Amino acid sequence: MALEIRRPEMTGRAPLVDGFQRRITYLRLSVTDRCDFRCSYCMPEAMKFLPRSEVLSLEELHKLALAFIARGVRKIRLTGGEPLVRRDMVELVQALGSRLGHGLDELTITTNGTQLALFADRLASAGVRRVNVSLDTLDPALFEKLTRRDRLDKVLEGIAAAKAAGLKVKINAVALKGLNEAELPDLIEWAHAQGHDITLIEVMPLGEVEGDRVDHYLPLCVVQDRLEERWSLSPSTHSSGGPARYFDIAATGGRLGLITPLTNNFCAGCNRLRVTATGQLYPCLGGGERVDLRAAMRSDNPEAMLDAALDEAMQIKPERHHFRIDARGAEPSQPRHMSMTGG
Ligand code: 5AD
Ligand code: SF4
Repeated sequence: MALEIRRPEMTGRAPLVDGFQRRITYLRLSVTDRCDFRCSYCMPEAMKFLPRSEVLSLEELHKLALAFIARGVRKIRLTGGEPLVRRDMVELVQALGSRLGHGLDELTITTNGTQLALFADRLASAGVRRVNVSLDTLDPALFEKLTRRDRLDKVLEGIAAAKAAGLKVKINAVALKGLNEAELPDLIEWAHAQGHDITLIEVMPLGEVEGDRVDHYLPLCVVQDRLEERWSLSPSTHSSGGPARYFDIAATGGRLGLITPLTNNFCAGCNRLRVTATGQLYPCLGGGERVDLRAAMRSDNPEAMLDAALDEAMQIKPERHHFRIDARGAEPSQPRHMSMTGG
């Protein structure tokens, strides 16, 4: 199949195309594995975080991002853990924000919202236009049970501050059987009333947690059927360039996204790479394939080694993930937690 490939703007360097002819234009860069929450489906209560010395410095994160931009990455999402608990995060956002319009089209953040009231204005000034905020429930007791922290108010304050700063907010909610299951229509209604899009996500088998994810796994086809009894969901032409399928709901006046890694594979359109806070590139959230960018960056010839490492990533990016949640007591499909590879 002939593939039309534009050379990355300004650099003339080879674009990133994997072995399945997928053009990679999107980097999800984790800036820390740490988080001020301990969401029960994400990590164990006594989660062990990496020693800070293992984590890339601000300069290294910046250099890394520029190397991706030079190879045609046009969108960068900063993730964690919780990215805003990293102290020099604003500096990184400012440094990358200055590349907007110069090779970079969009700089976004995924956050749990606890620090947004503090940072929303500075993020907006640096050129961030959209943030994804994770929020699974509006019930304070369930919120505390899920995140193991009593901070719903802070998150709601953060979301309001983001909106006030002019940031477009998308709410991400993991759909959980027997937990937020009954509340999902209210959550959707609330988000749309506030002017936010909302996306529901199926829980993925990533890393050990205390409970068994099977117990709370809720296939989104079930949720969709139930929502359709209440509202009319019209498939939307909107695409965020990601795995979500979107629907417009006239009754609530907003857009609903569904991310279905378990029930409806979307890997054919994958356009992304993920890098952990220690500089490990995982070409697939659901695979163990990995390239060490930190070693490349700290070598004698960092530029050439980084380029070679990115070429290797293109060769090893798998065709699809093989997530399964169907057997009690099964090992997670991947031992890495989401907080490591970036949500
Ligand atoms: N499966 C699905 N989503 C997860 N998240 C964290 N761990 C998991 C998991 N195992 C979500 C968070 C947040 C996003 C960054 O990832 O709730 O919305
Ligand atoms: Fe933190 Fe996000 Fe994991 Fe919750 S899901 S513990 S907010 S990284």
